[in-house]
Amino acid sequence: MKPGLFITFEGIDGAGKSTHISALASAFQAAGKNVTLTREPGGTPLAEKLRVMVLNDAMDSLSESLLIFAARRDHLNAVILPALARGDVVLCDRFTDATFAYQGSGRGFDLRILQTLERWVQASADNTFVQPHLTVWFDLNPAEAAKRLAGARLPDRFEAQPVEFFTRVAQGYADRQQADPNRFAQIEAAQSVERVWQDVLGVFIRKGWLP
Ligand code: TYD
Repeated sequence: MKPGLFITFEGIDGAGKSTHISALASAFQAAGKNVTLTREPGGTPLAEKLRVMVLNDAMDSLSESLLIFAARRDHLNAVILPALARGDVVLCDRFTDATFAYQGSGRGFDLRILQTLERWVQASADNTFVQPHLTVWFDLNPAEAAKRLAGARLPDRFEAQPVEFFTRVAQGYADRQQADPNRFAQIEAAQSVERVWQDVLGVFIRKGWLP
C-alpha cells in the first residue's frame, strides 16, 4: 500500500462537490498535509486535451470510454501514483466510478468491458490494483440537480442530457456503492452547503484523517 491517501469525489452534475473539495484541501493543508488537488477527465496536459474532446465532440460510447481511460492512465502515472508515493493526500474530482455511472449506466455501455479497462488501467508498475481509499459520493435527486444546473452556463455533452439520463447515472453510483460499500461515504447533498460540509468533515474526522 502506498503511504498517501487517495480520495475521490463523485455525484451527478449539479450535486455540488466543488466547494467541498476545495474546503477539504484547505483543511488537510491546515493539518500539515501536502495536498494534490486534481480532476478527471484531466489532471495532466494530455488528459486535459482528451477532456476537451470527451466533453465536446460527438463519439460513440466505446470511443468515449477509451479516451477517458487513456486520460486516466496518464493521470495515474504522471500525477496520482507519484503523489501517493510522496505521502500526499490526493483529492480527485471524479474517477472510475464516474465511468461506470456515466458511460455504463447513463449511456448503457457494456459494464464488463469497463471492468476489463479498469483492471488494465489501474494496475500499477508492481501490478497492484489501484483504487481510492475513500470515495465521497454526493447523492442528490436528479430533478433537484437539474434545478440547480438550469441556466448556470453553456452545458457540455453530459450536462445537456435529460433528467432520465441522470436518473440512470445516479443508479449507477448506487450500484458501485453496493459492490464496494466500505470504500464509499454517501453524503445527503439535498441540504444547505453548511450542513453538507459538516457531514463531509464528519466522515474525515471519524476516520482519524482530520482533527
Ligand atoms: P465535472 O466533473 O462535473 O466538471 P465541471 O464541474 O467542470 O463540470 O465534469 C466532468 C463531466 O465528465 C461530467 O459531466 C461527468 C463526465 N464524466 C464521465 O462521463 N465519465 C467519467 O469517467 C468522468 C471522470 C467524467
